[in-house]
Amino acid sequence: MHENEFPLDDAITYLNHAAVSPWPRRTVNAVKQFADENLTSGSLHYPRWVATETALREQLQSLINAESSDEIALLKNTSEALSVVAYGLPWQTGDTVVITDQEFPSNRVVWESLQKYGVSTRVATISDTETPEQAIIDLLDNRTRLLSVSAVQYGTGLKLDLALLGAACRDRGLLFCVDAIQGIGAMRFDVQACQADFVMADAHKWMLGPEGIALFYCRAVVMEQLDLKQYGWHMLEDSSNYTNNDWEVARSARRFECGSPNMTGIHALHASLSLVAETGIEAIEQRVLENTRFILDYLQQRPDRFQLITPVAEHRHAGIVTFCPLHETPESLFESLWSQHIMCALRGGGVRLSPHFYTPRKRLFSALEQLEG
Ligand SMILES: Cc1ncc(COP(=O)(O)O)c(C=O)c1O
Repeated sequence: MHENEFPLDDAITYLNHAAVSPWPRRTVNAVKQFADENLTSGSLHYPRWVATETALREQLQSLINAESSDEIALLKNTSEALSVVAYGLPWQTGDTVVITDQEFPSNRVVWESLQKYGVSTRVATISDTETPEQAIIDLLDNRTRLLSVSAVQYGTGLKLDLALLGAACRDRGLLFCVDAIQGIGAMRFDVQACQADFVMADAHKWMLGPEGIALFYCRAVVMEQLDLKQYGWHMLEDSSNYTNNDWEVARSARRFECGSPNMTGIHALHASLSLVAETGIEAIEQRVLENTRFILDYLQQRPDRFQLITPVAEHRHAGIVTFCPLHETPESLFESLWSQHIMCALRGGGVRLSPHFYTPRKRLFSALEQLEG
């Protein structure tokens, strides 16, 4: 499926989409074309570039089912978007933020850094429980202002029931923030169904885009709650009027983009998402889950050799499978896999495999055979 789009070196088995993905052929072509255009005519066609930027916001809107593309900002990365939220909200001493014990540092340190404002971070233990959502909800109380979780945990691959968490937040009048970098592009994602207020995801993992361009969704009705910390021309309602002393910030999420956009990244991600749309996110999700299931089954059939870290129930994972080898260290298995160009990662206390929808089953099977030496 779409193997033409991913003409990876034959020696490489790419099971590392949860880290940094390869680009599809069309993305490489789009960037080359953009570079050539810059070489021969500079920004002559800038209005067309802006049209691509607009189209990208619409692609992202559709991918996450946002009500409007005005709720989509294009930022640098997930961490920047989390910082826009954390440093935009008007905190009061005694406020708390709830996160989980499995979060990537970006979704932990930014909240911990608010300690200087008297804000404390409460950490829900979601490891070793069948009901991680309940463990999280149990920590929400009248001091809590915001819950921030990953849609899919980078280490264990655990997928949370965002609709349940979103409803719990809405019921209590709390803000709900979702770091969705390990979910969007691998599975269906619906900001309205899960009642998220803020969602962020860089392009370079499951969306198959480059690093340095990220989606930041901000629900229209909470936009005003975020104080702006960066200012410039691009974020103004009338960004083409350079002499207006009576400026106002954009009513849309463009208000979070202070200056010139990352046009190279925009062209690249626009191309990557055209592949996602063409394939269909439902089909991608199904294929991602089939690959995950294939790995899980393989490992489960060898309980004397491997211990699974990723939960096996289908609603509890997306594209990540992490496990521990029982007869060697994860580090030595990881090194041996990399020496064979089987690209994977050391995460969550084990070896993490993350194939994407297009990963050929044959390659996946050969890689799994290598796990046993
Ligand atoms: C769950 C999660 N959040 C955030 C990040 C970092 O994202 P960015 O580099 O876009 O800030 C990662 C990267 O691995 C991640 O897995």
